[in-house]
Amino acid sequence: MPELATATPLTPVPAGDARAFRSVLGHVPTGVTLVTAGGPADDRPSAAMVVGTFGSVSLDPPLVCFLPDRASTTWPLVRAAGAFTASVLAGHQVDVCRAFARKEDDRFERFGWDRTPGGGHVVHGAAAWVECVVEDVLETGDHDLVLGRVVALGADPDVPHSLVFSRGAYGVPTLV
Ligand SMILES: Cc1cc2nc3c(=O)[nH]c(=O)nc-3n(C[C@H](O)[C@H](O)[C@H](O)COP(=O)(O)O)c2cc1C
Repeated sequence: MPELATATPLTPVPAGDARAFRSVLGHVPTGVTLVTAGGPADDRPSAAMVVGTFGSVSLDPPLVCFLPDRASTTWPLVRAAGAFTASVLAGHQVDVCRAFARKEDDRFERFGWDRTPGGGHVVHGAAAWVECVVEDVLETGDHDLVLGRVVALGADPDVPHSLVFSRGAYGVPTLV
């Protein structure tokens, strides 16, 4: 992603300019999470989308969130399923991210899947997973804010790093 030309760090850019908004907010590093749904009787999900907006919301009750674009074609499938599983991608899983973000034809077959207690699917090798039912959906601008009630979750202690997306590039954290 190209950097915006700014004279000094405190020179404002127009808040309504989508490119400027993306560039500035791109400075906030995010995780990379694969939200999957459907295919309960199958060995793979039937819907999946990559999001950078997955995060924790509440401990009691246990709630998480993600924000799908309302123009997303995958989000209505997840919403209809009423439940989703979030696979938090590991540092080595850029290929998983790219396959789903680019909607490659073989994306569901190419990767292996583990089953969650409630029948969801976690992509093999993920750093962590969170299985949820859709608790609430709030319309916010051009995105929906999805609140998921956590029904099961886990993490792989052998995965050293989660994948990070920052300033338009993928990486893993450098610990200080
Ligand atoms: C790192 C990364 C983060 C993304 N985060 C989001 C997100 O939070 N919400 C969203 O709707 N799309 C996000 N996208 C775009 C979607 O992965 C996907 O390309 C888009 O939803 C495709 O539309 P579909 O839902 O019709 O499949 C992200 C893509 C990447 C590569």
